[in-house]
Amino acid sequence: MKIAVSGKGGVGKTTISALIAYALRDAGHRVIAIDADPDSNLLACMGYPRPDSVRPLVELRDLIEERTGVKPGTVGGMYKLNPRVDDLPDRYAVDVDGIKVLVAGAVKKGGSGCYCPENALVRTLVAHLLLDRGSALVLDMEAGVEHLGRGTVEAVDRLLIVVEPGRRSVETASRIRALAADLGLAHVGIVGNKIRGEADLALLRGLFPDADVAGAVPYDERLREAEIGGRPARGASPEADRAVAAIVTRLNG
Ligand SMILES: Nc1ncnc2c1ncn2[C@@H]1O[C@H](COP(=O)(O)OP(=O)(O)OP(=O)(O)O)[C@@H](O)[C@H]1O
Ligand SMILES: [Mg+2]
Repeated sequence: MKIAVSGKGGVGKTTISALIAYALRDAGHRVIAIDADPDSNLLACMGYPRPDSVRPLVELRDLIEERTGVKPGTVGGMYKLNPRVDDLPDRYAVDVDGIKVLVAGAVKKGGSGCYCPENALVRTLVAHLLLDRGSALVLDMEAGVEHLGRGTVEAVDRLLIVVEPGRRSVETASRIRALAADLGLAHVGIVGNKIRGEADLALLRGLFPDADVAGAVPYDERLREAEIGGRPARGASPEADRAVAAIVTRLNG
């Protein structure tokens, strides 16, 4: 099970990613969670103490130069497209409650966004982990659509698009879906988040074909409070935990 989580900014990608990682762990999988957002906060969302002490891989200049052959920040140039990455999970993943979390990061936008050694390293690492049949993978991605097609998500089993009730989030989801279709991603699912009742659910089902809706996670103030208080998302809302566990069960089946 290799799952990438995308969607508009702030819809709950990181929260859902964290809850999926726990649900997969509870289902007996070995789980690797990758934070692939330039503004990394998956560790914080999982309640890891001092998350800022873990630097994203894209910021490890010496490592990037050692592996790709060129200094980070280099545009164009001749870097290794297939740097060695097999030792990186063991060296850099942090264990949170039995889940291995890798803070990969991503290079912030800008013209050379995809063609730099930093991203080459992360891309190769993700590709490597996608081929590892022994573990489940959850990829918490950058908001929006621009990064899709950079070669990180093409090999996932499922692309989940988180949608909150609201026009802009739905528009972004539709653009992500179109792009996923262009990329040939077969299994794309919509996850409704911050659902406050039947009306929200009906809205979601009206906007997307029923078959595409992987599940819905209720709005729960306690999740927001946990985030503000630096406490883990997992356990803050038993209802959200259950909703995500049900999604994972459905995806597995
Ligand atoms: N089901 C929910 N109920 C209430 N609050 C939620 C829910 N899901 C997420 N939130 C809150 O919404 C805010 C954004 O969540 P989160 O950081 O997971 O979103 P994101 O999509 O990863 O954001 P970004 O685009 O910045 O990476 C957080 O304060 C989080 O606690
Ligand atoms: Mg996030």
